[in-house]
Amino acid sequence: MTELIVRQIEDGVMTIRINRPQKKNALTVAMYEGLADAIQAADEDDDVRVMLLRGTDGVFCAGNDIQDFLQWPPFDESSQVVRFLMTLIHARKPIVAAVQGPAVGVGTTMLFHCDLVYAGEGARFSLPFVNLALVPEAGSSYMLPQMFGHQRAAELLMLGEPFDAQMASEAGFVNAIYADDQVIAIAEEKARQLAAKPPAALRLTKALLKRGSQPQIAEAVRVEAGHFAELLQSPEATEAFTAFMERRQPDFSKFS
Ligand code: COA
Repeated sequence: MTELIVRQIEDGVMTIRINRPQKKNALTVAMYEGLADAIQAADEDDDVRVMLLRGTDGVFCAGNDIQDFLQWPPFDESSQVVRFLMTLIHARKPIVAAVQGPAVGVGTTMLFHCDLVYAGEGARFSLPFVNLALVPEAGSSYMLPQMFGHQRAAELLMLGEPFDAQMASEAGFVNAIYADDQVIAIAEEKARQLAAKPPAALRLTKALLKRGSQPQIAEAVRVEAGHFAELLQSPEATEAFTAFMERRQPDFSKFS
């Protein structure tokens, strides 16, 4: 069976590759577990100084697998999704991300918790939670207004329209934009540069940078997860997921 989360360690960098291209790297429960395990292993392994998070050629991640939403609706604090988010948020070592193509839902929100984010010109970010009758997750209801301002955050979260690498870069969400076929190699080079730095100073710098916001982010993740779990069971969400699977527009007109 193909490994859905692939880890590789080289030059002090653990590359964590989301590897389900036939489903645009949509994440199943097992994949969240694989991601959490990988980050935890990287944090504990003295041979790893930096993590590099990436998708497959041309696609970063299409968010949570929508079939999985229907099959495994609970999304409470004991779920692998929340474990992944908490592991990511509390990671001790720097995380570099390379984004090519779509980054949808958690494919975008996980990037808020990375340290350096590089995007290909064709990267497309989106937060379609409301369109799926859901609420923001991964602390994005806290991070997004901080980074983009309330009105822009409301636009991105309520209308759920995609935004491009340029807009992400202007908000400071992306460090730099490169040609799509170069972004992975450049992110790898940045990760190697970090891995050559004094590791204790690097880890402490990350901890200091996150010190002011980490408790609020973790709290936001918990509060969001409660609402998310509730809404996952709602008739609105069932309509949204079924419509996606049936490749039709959802009809929310009958809900009050
Ligand atoms: N969950 C489950 N399956 C998904 C998926 C997801 N989040 N995203 C994509 N897929 C599947 C499609 O159903 C399709 O499967 P099929 O070939 O068996 O029919 C396959 O991946 C390819 O997707 P497709 O939509 O044909 O690719 P595209 O290049 O036209 O569009 C996306 C790519 C990512 C823009 C589009 O797939 C998309 O919007 N996906 C949904 C994203 C989403 O809403 N995620 C949840 C966020 S909370």
